[in-house]
Amino acid sequence: MSGQPTVGQLWRGWRDVLDRLGFASAALDAKLLTGYALGLSALELATGENNSVDPAAAEQVAALLQRRMTGESVARIIGEREFYGLPFALNEATLEPRPETELLVDLALAHLPPGGQLLDLGTGTGCIPIAILANRPDARAIATDLSARALEAAAENAERNGVADRIRFLQGSWFEPLSPFDRLRMRSDAPFRFHLITSNPPYITSAVVDTLEREVKDFDPRLALDGGADGLAPYRVIAAQAADWLDPDGAVLLEIGYDQGAAVSALFLEAGFENVAVHRDLNGHDRVVAARLR
Ligand SMILES: C[S@@+](CC[C@H](N)C(=O)[O-])C[C@H]1O[C@@H](n2cnc3c(N)ncnc32)[C@H](O)[C@@H]1O
Repeated sequence: MSGQPTVGQLWRGWRDVLDRLGFASAALDAKLLTGYALGLSALELATGENNSVDPAAAEQVAALLQRRMTGESVARIIGEREFYGLPFALNEATLEPRPETELLVDLALAHLPPGGQLLDLGTGTGCIPIAILANRPDARAIATDLSARALEAAAENAERNGVADRIRFLQGSWFEPLSPFDRLRMRSDAPFRFHLITSNPPYITSAVVDTLEREVKDFDPRLALDGGADGLAPYRVIAAQAADWLDPDGAVLLEIGYDQGAAVSALFLEAGFENVAVHRDLNGHDRVVAARLR
């Protein structure tokens, strides 16, 4: 683009480029990234359409749009994504929170008793426990992740969403980092049992990860996607150990792939859980397994 384009010319020009490349959300992406690069809100972008943009600022817009053209998502470029109406910072070690996962939060809010204690495994950005705590000022949580870098984002997100004093982040594999805490209490008057264990673990089979669309496979961390040869490896660990940490009246809520309902339910039934149900998302796909000991 030559000379000094106006704001409107700039975002529309990039919209056309993305459109020609087949991006379904070309107009939205171009507006969001132009506004972000120029430091303008959506309203300012709309009302400032005729303002000219100096070459240095236009270069910054171009740099972001070029990243989009490689398949990087708008949320990753901006470094933030909304989940359950709250903002979550992302980094290279975190999965982008997905809208499908909001069903897990809805179910968790329904299952968690007053003063409930929650364990979230593989927390990533911390979106699941932070969304729960933000809606339940009486609840507390521990969240684990194998990635220390992901936990940095999660801790930042807990601060930002005002729940940092009620959540503890521990680095390690699934339940492992809990061991040093087994004699400590989240509340001095309560036994160390969780009322709810949640997880959205990696559940894609290793072979399928490489075939995913580039926005996912090139930018979401493999550790957040790869569930092993049959996609069930994390569920086996969780099913085998959950009862050791769960209140007898508590529940385990796990996000699953659309075709994993029967297999994950079977793992929990084999592990001694008596009450197991599969919940569907708004698209009618199996999305969450809920397991109770009784
Ligand atoms: C599918 S992502 C989900 C992240 C977040 N809970 C969400 O819903 O957006 C799975 C998460 O599990 C973590 N993870 C992978 N293997 C793990 C393990 N062995 N122990 C703990 N966390 C693990 C990954 O780092 C990643 O953050």
